[in-house]
Amino acid sequence: MSRFYATTPIYYVNDEPHIGHAYTTIVADAVSRWHRLLGEDVKFLTGTDEHGLKIQQAAAAAGLDPKTFADGIAPRFAAAWDSLDISNDDFIRTTEPRHYTAVTELLQRCYDAGDIELDYYRGKYCVRCEAYYTDDELLPVDLCPIHKTPVDVLEEENYFFRLSRFEQRLLDWYEAHPGAIVPEFRGNEALGLIRSGLKDFSVSRTSLTWGVPLPWDAKHVTYVWFDALTNYMSAVGFGATDEASQTAFETWWPADVHFIGKDIIRFHCVYWPAMLMSAGIEPTRRYAVGGWLLVDNEKMSKSTGNVVTPLDMVDTVGVDGLRYYVLADTPYGNDGDFTRDGIIGRYNSDLANNLGNLVSRVATVVGSKCGGIAPAASPDSPLAAAASDAVTAAITAWDEIAPHRGLEATWSLIRATNAYLEANEPWKAEPGPAVDVVLGDAVEALRIVTVLASPAIPATTQRIWERLGLDGLVSDQRVPGDVEWSGAAAGRPVTKGDPLFPRIKP
Ligand code: MSP
Repeated sequence: MSRFYATTPIYYVNDEPHIGHAYTTIVADAVSRWHRLLGEDVKFLTGTDEHGLKIQQAAAAAGLDPKTFADGIAPRFAAAWDSLDISNDDFIRTTEPRHYTAVTELLQRCYDAGDIELDYYRGKYCVRCEAYYTDDELLPVDLCPIHKTPVDVLEEENYFFRLSRFEQRLLDWYEAHPGAIVPEFRGNEALGLIRSGLKDFSVSRTSLTWGVPLPWDAKHVTYVWFDALTNYMSAVGFGATDEASQTAFETWWPADVHFIGKDIIRFHCVYWPAMLMSAGIEPTRRYAVGGWLLVDNEKMSKSTGNVVTPLDMVDTVGVDGLRYYVLADTPYGNDGDFTRDGIIGRYNSDLANNLGNLVSRVATVVGSKCGGIAPAASPDSPLAAAASDAVTAAITAWDEIAPHRGLEATWSLIRATNAYLEANEPWKAEPGPAVDVVLGDAVEALRIVTVLASPAIPATTQRIWERLGLDGLVSDQRVPGDVEWSGAAAGRPVTKGDPLFPRIKP
């Protein structure tokens, strides 16, 4: 069986989960759910990033030691993901022993390969980014390009990872793996970074205590990226010597996709594959780079004070309303502008009017004209071709990590089915074979829609599945086998139930 290993970034615990974190997590979740439909063995990982100066300072400000502080925040991320129906198989925290083991092993391998060396560093550093910036990256008067706050000048003895040695190897790897970064324009951004010349980066500091010590020089603690990126391997047993962990690592590595935001492209698409090459480990296969969800055209953050929490929106449009919006509204890779009007507009048009209306019409008319039992679909229905086009387009789109296109294909089948019902007006006709054919076709199209939409709106599609009288879980269906035009719902009792998506007043 083929396997699929997908990850989200691990989120810093100095912040509460907000809609920006939820965005990347929902996309990764939906794509992972799609791969489960394909019958693949899926591992979907998320977690929290708990080391470093930023966390140490946030903990101090809260009057807590860093571990106690992190212990308080990490469960809030886990709870937020539970409440958004995120189907992660594991949750990694960088303070776990399994992560220390993995980081130690990776550091040692890169050191043994001669790619980590002691040197001096003086530079301009943004604590909130946990990154040094060069003069041309800073905004005028030495402000951090992300936070627009002054940077600090630091000088210290550091170990450096010799990234500059990897320029050609990285270019060769990307050339040999076309499409490794999606969408393509984000790939060009990463190649641009590599071609413009790579500088060695610091991997350790002596002034820091909150992190993993270097195995060969314990006065140094590794920080931020060397620590954080390794989480993707810690979760699948890297560095552990027991047999189960070794088998896990062989099974799951290299990861299939890292879902990331555009702000961390350099670290994931340049640093990380170079670190792995140095250690003799195969790099991750693909990177899916998302834009930002902007609120009032600003990146959401605590400092700008424009934070929207997932729960704010769930109260209005429900979990599936929020999931659908972030998946369908913005092509993955672009920035999206998050507005209350936008989310309610999408909800009313796509969920209440199109999908909700189709479900309720079908159930009502099957009830009134077909004795509540789904009739058989006709093999040469005009909807059969629409369904097969939708399936083909959805498969391609999800494979290209373009959920908005996958959902567009699915909604085209919803619209075709609504149009088919309107053209035939079965509600006006006398019960009989002609009405049965129309409703049999509509039920079958809806069954296929339900499977195709399930990665985006898992809870609602399960309810539709049950209303169509179908057994088991929609998430146990398989693409493409179970989305062929077959009439699998024929003969089943169809029930009406409450509106799935009550309209919201704009
Ligand atoms: N801890 C690092 C990542 C380490 S991964 C090995 C980090 N954490 S973060 O919490 O600041 O942000 C992580 C990710 O959250 C971003 O890359 C991005 O994917 C997502 N987002 C945070 N704010 C966002 C928006 N406003 N919009 C979309 N995504 C954003 O960086």
